[in-house]
Amino acid sequence: MINIGILGLGTVGTGVVELLENNRKVIKQRLGEEVNVKKILVRDLSKKRTPYADGKLTVQADDILDDEQINIVVEVLGGEEPALSYIKKALQNKKHVVTANKEVISKHGKELFELAEKSGVGLYFEASVGGGIPIIRPMKHCLAANRILRISGILNGTTNYILTQMQEKRRNFEDALREAQRLGYAESDPSDDIKGFDAARKLAILSSIAFNTRITPDKVYVEGIENIELEDIKYAGELGYTVKLVASARKVGKSEVEVLVAPTMLSKNHPLSAVRDVYNAILVEGDAVGEVMFFGQGAGKMPTASAVVADIMDAAREGKRRIYCTCYDELKVIDVGSSTSR
Ligand code: NAP
Ligand code: HSE
Repeated sequence: MINIGILGLGTVGTGVVELLENNRKVIKQRLGEEVNVKKILVRDLSKKRTPYADGKLTVQADDILDDEQINIVVEVLGGEEPALSYIKKALQNKKHVVTANKEVISKHGKELFELAEKSGVGLYFEASVGGGIPIIRPMKHCLAANRILRISGILNGTTNYILTQMQEKRRNFEDALREAQRLGYAESDPSDDIKGFDAARKLAILSSIAFNTRITPDKVYVEGIENIELEDIKYAGELGYTVKLVASARKVGKSEVEVLVAPTMLSKNHPLSAVRDVYNAILVEGDAVGEVMFFGQGAGKMPTASAVVADIMDAAREGKRRIYCTCYDELKVIDVGSSTSR
């Protein structure tokens, strides 16, 4: 049995606990052993929580970070501190860390990866970019043979939700933002979303991987959507354009990259203009593969939990080199008649 400790039980933490419970059987089949949530850190013990967390809550981070039976620490608190210090302590204590925290990874990734390597453990961050969209592993592994020329995408679900609601429902900015918060998409300080900082952090992470360099969020030129009004969206629509918060990075010459996040008018036949609501999409151009596009829900409880739990499973496999378990469900194949596909 793999024991894990979770730091945080908000939107994402609750999704992780519920997904581990709902898909317990399939996770055990694929991993070959059970994942057990041993303890969960929260601030407020009196809040109503998912019943799956009963008896597991603590307000002391060290109950998790110093527990020798916990092999994997999942950080879903958000913000820079105390998340950064907790991640460091977990790595120092030789625990694998899974995090959804783009602020910490984009600003302190280098130091943390070095620490993880020194301790002989893994640091996993698939959920930090694109919510449920698989993007970190494909960039690091499936596209590893390419020189990446360009990335452009919609990397923030909250702002894409707001812009879609303004365009399609003529809803005002504040109403749409309140709804995005209610749905669990927004950061605890939503100005990180609407001012473009969250997208800039994600772009910094992706472009560091893509261009094999270190790009921190302060190097990204950022404009948010806070000054966009219903009228702007209406006029853009009349001219045949959709307004999106686009994050883009491209290689310029041999030694420079341009990284920026800004509201952009996209023609209606641009592939990113059809990306609505909380969905994100990322276009990557590699010299061998050409263009590939990744698409899916960029925020929200279960899509984000999907990425976090996959990382937990990868962390659990590490060291064992186990790829697939050999226990399968015996499924009957439905007879749909004869086919020519032999
Ligand atoms: P959230 O709903 O605000 O939940 C944060 C949780 O952390 C809460 O349970 C809170 O405790 C706990 N917490 C915060 N500070 C703490 C502290 N100092 N000590 C103890 N507990 C503390 O946040 P979230 O939306 O789940 O996001 C978590 C992380 O995932 C962030 O890094 C975010 O950027 C990232 N992320 C979120 C999404 C999404 O769709 N929401 C998607 C991808 C990535 P209480 O419950 O007691 O207040
Ligand atoms: N606040 C973020 C967003 C959460 O809206 O995209 C997912 O990273």
